[in-house]
Amino acid sequence: MKIKIISLVLVMAALAGLANCAGSGSSFDDIVANRRSVRSYDKSKKISDEQIRILIATTQEAPSWANVQATRYYTVMSDDMLNKVLPSMLTNQEKASTAPVLIVTTYKRGLSGFFDGKATNELGDTWGAFDAGLSNAFLVLKAKEMGFDTLIMGLRDAEGLKKALDIPSDETVMSVVALGYGTQSPKRPERKPLYDILKIK
Ligand SMILES: Cc1cc2nc3c(=O)[nH]c(=O)nc-3n(C[C@H](O)[C@H](O)[C@H](O)COP(=O)(O)O)c2cc1C
Repeated sequence: MKIKIISLVLVMAALAGLANCAGSGSSFDDIVANRRSVRSYDKSKKISDEQIRILIATTQEAPSWANVQATRYYTVMSDDMLNKVLPSMLTNQEKASTAPVLIVTTYKRGLSGFFDGKATNELGDTWGAFDAGLSNAFLVLKAKEMGFDTLIMGLRDAEGLKKALDIPSDETVMSVVALGYGTQSPKRPERKPLYDILKIK
């Protein structure tokens, strides 16, 4: 009898644990709370082409100006290509070298912010950067949901990346996103008090 009660308690505890796992890590708020910029990766843990396709398919669901979808993704997965790209990573070189995947984000100019080939307002092609940023937000959150860590890097040599990856001249290079399984769990950098950034009128 005693053994039966202990077994029952253990089964219930296991089920409660499972229910807890299913709930945590899958809600939007959990993904947002758990995503951090990670600056070191386990290179031996590979990511497949299929996982990249799933990631970018969700990223592509980000809104864009008139649905022009001007953002492009150049994915560096081979050691050969990584070696060509690394010198363009400047102060981020060491961090980038540990990631199994680097995703260079660009946008095609003259699309976002434009109608009939003309810039619609004072921001002109800056809207391309806006759309690329939005898509990067989708990318890092979907990556977290898939169990990966990321680092968006803005310190990089755009010309070097263009050469290494044969990026067309009508595209502007934005970020390089490192993707992989992190080897560190950074603390959440403090955010400003909400009312420093939010004005409700
Ligand atoms: C546009 C952009 C550029 C960034 N560039 C770099 C970079 O070059 N190197 C780096 O280590 N982190 C970079 N970061 C990461 C930020 O430092 C990081 O997002 C910030 O400190 C908040 O930390 P968290 O992402 O963990 O919340 C960049 C982030 C963004 C959004």
